[in-house]
Amino acid sequence: MLSRNATVVGLQWGDEGKGKIVDALAEQVRYVVRYCGGANAGHTVVVGGEKFALHLIPCGLLHDGVINVIANGVAFDPVVALEEIAALRNRGVKLDAKNLRISAAANLVMPWHKLRDSLSEKRLGKGKQIGTTARGIGPCYSDKANRSTAIRAGDLAHADVLAEKIRTIAEIKNATFNALYEADPIDGDSIVTEYTEYGRQLAAMICNTGGLLRRAAARGEPILFEGGQGSMLDVDHGTYPFVTSSSVTACGVPAGAGVPPSAVGQVVGLIKAYTTRVGGGPFPTEQENRIGDYLRERGHEYGTTTGRPRRCGWFDAFAARYAADISGVDELALSLLDVLSGLDEINVCVGYRVDGESLDMLDPAAMAQAQPVYETMGSWSEDISA
Ligand code: IMO
Ligand code: MG
Repeated sequence: MLSRNATVVGLQWGDEGKGKIVDALAEQVRYVVRYCGGANAGHTVVVGGEKFALHLIPCGLLHDGVINVIANGVAFDPVVALEEIAALRNRGVKLDAKNLRISAAANLVMPWHKLRDSLSEKRLGKGKQIGTTARGIGPCYSDKANRSTAIRAGDLAHADVLAEKIRTIAEIKNATFNALYEADPIDGDSIVTEYTEYGRQLAAMICNTGGLLRRAAARGEPILFEGGQGSMLDVDHGTYPFVTSSSVTACGVPAGAGVPPSAVGQVVGLIKAYTTRVGGGPFPTEQENRIGDYLRERGHEYGTTTGRPRRCGWFDAFAARYAADISGVDELALSLLDVLSGLDEINVCVGYRVDGESLDMLDPAAMAQAQPVYETMGSWSEDISA
């Protein structure tokens, strides 16, 4: 068992291999907790020799005795959750209210969130688009902040409350979507039927997960917090507006899981030996050339959630240090070094220049104008994958 809690966070733009590291650490803890994001994540674990991408269910599910928690900070999509539960059960993984808990305070992703995500991106057009995963994440968190148009997982356990909320909100969404996008109306009644059924299937797992985790922390039972996305996609500290809509760094753990800051524990920051990014936004070390193609093909850099080819470039130590500082990283886990085998030389970005001046502190707002400063390293050609 770990002697204290641990938090695993991505230090780049996501896809740093969080699933693998969480799965490796999970046998040493009692709880594995998702505290941010939603089904926009794609965390890969190996189930029965087969790779399996999880979007919502925490990556501790393969370990007996681990309780997997979807905490209040998550944008919870019951459709994806039930699909994952079914797929995992098909592979012989036991998942029930004993090892999977969902916070009653997690906000639900509704069909109108996914619809608005797509409509809004389409309207923004090329160049301005965020390049979201179309999973309804931004619109769900918008409604969370708006309060009166939000539905929480706890409502799934009360069919009458749920039905009333869905009907009222569907009417508001129909009026706004019609005015903004001339969209066809959403049928509130069929959503009531659909979500009532999800509630029936999930009710036993929905509870006060904050209380559960605070008690566990007080008893000294080790908790592992599984970050989603990457620090440069953080809503406050990333390359805004080309970010996701939640607090994904270790700073998001207390609010997103309902635990005190002291419960964050040891922070493990994940980096790849190069950088990738999916979607729009600045990326100073991007290589839109033969090198980027080499990294993409050798690293299989295609989206787990959307299948999109990832943008690829050199490792950015300047950005990684910024991200490590925000989360107070204690340890780094570096992966995919073997992808670099066979390159003539390897560049590492150690700083940025803006208008010819070196920046002494990274500011994500300056990234679009930043010229990377590289240190060129020697290379190797042998296979180091083992
Ligand atoms: P994991 O957990 C990579 C990116 C999207 C887009 C931006 C906003 O697998 O590392 P959103 O759908 O969240 O509104 O999209 O954030 N993005 C990710 N990129 N890995 C992820 O998660 C991501 N989650 C969101 O591509 O640029
Ligand atoms: Mg991903």
